[in-house]
Amino acid sequence: MTDLARLRFAHDDGAIPTVGFGSSPLTGGILPDVIATGLKAGYRHIDTARKYGTEEAVGEGMRASGVPRQDIFLTTKVSHENLRADDFARSVDESLAALKVDYVDLLLVHWPNPDIALSETMPALAKAKRQGLARHIGVANFNIALLGEAIKLCPEPLVALQAEYHPYLDQTKLLAEVRKQQLVFIAYCPLGRGRLFDDPVLKEIAQARGRSIAQIALRWLIQQDVAAIPFSSNPQRIADNFNVFDFTLSDDEMARITALKRADGRVANPSGRVTGGWD
Ligand SMILES: NC(=O)c1ccc[n+]([C@@H]2O[C@H](COP(=O)([O-])OP(=O)(O)OC[C@H]3O[C@@H](n4cnc5c(N)ncnc54)[C@H](OP(=O)(O)O)[C@@H]3O)[C@@H](O)[C@H]2O)c1
Repeated sequence: MTDLARLRFAHDDGAIPTVGFGSSPLTGGILPDVIATGLKAGYRHIDTARKYGTEEAVGEGMRASGVPRQDIFLTTKVSHENLRADDFARSVDESLAALKVDYVDLLLVHWPNPDIALSETMPALAKAKRQGLARHIGVANFNIALLGEAIKLCPEPLVALQAEYHPYLDQTKLLAEVRKQQLVFIAYCPLGRGRLFDDPVLKEIAQARGRSIAQIALRWLIQQDVAAIPFSSNPQRIADNFNVFDFTLSDDEMARITALKRADGRVANPSGRVTGGWD
């Protein structure tokens, strides 16, 4: 493992494994076996959410893997409809019960909710940390303005922002803000939910390097000090996606991949949850 394998948090003494394992399949549920396969392949960071309905399977897979709980960085999230203080606390309790764990490593607000004030949500998030139910806290799908507000209103430091990011989506502005605030950026849909796989530039770079397109896309993220949480249900691809620490993309390759951004590149876009734009 290289020094890119973990990203340190600036606001506390924690760190997050750079390549994590998603747990939100596009259709159907997830089998505990898939999680156990990921852990056996070397992943030590697992991403779930109350909303995905996969927490039970994630917990079961963690236990079946034999990897000790303290070696796994586990993230879950509280859905946008549960951002009032009482609902928030109940959702965290339900997550811990479903996962059968005493704490999560990272607890995120899953999406902002324009109908619920952040002045209510952020203290509820901080409280979960102070109660020891979450080691670290952060937000997902917040734009620059909301992130600033969340930081100001949260009595405990945020360590991470999770948002969509892959070569087809320009996240220059959000990434610059996340860096300025010294948070870790966690890229979801890092493979563009499969849309990258016919890309001629990625294909050419992958062929030249004897790598898969997924590995090239993930390496492009981690060379920006961005964490990534790809999902796969296939054991070969699960292992392939984790095997990105033994090669380096050149500046020219990085620039060619960055140039692939498209105006219609976003793949996750539930309407009405983000007001005031994505940046
Ligand atoms: N915070 C949020 O709002 C949010 C939103 C969306 C997602 N997420 C998180 O981010 C995770 C990842 O996003 P995602 O699952 O939507 O998309 P993704 O990881 O970009 O893409 C997953 C898709 O790519 C395929 N795939 C994976 N590795 C591959 C490889 N090496 N070669 C070819 N195909 C490959 C998978 O199919 P196979 O299974 O057949 O391999 C799957 O269909 C989610 O699971 C979830 O944990 C968070």
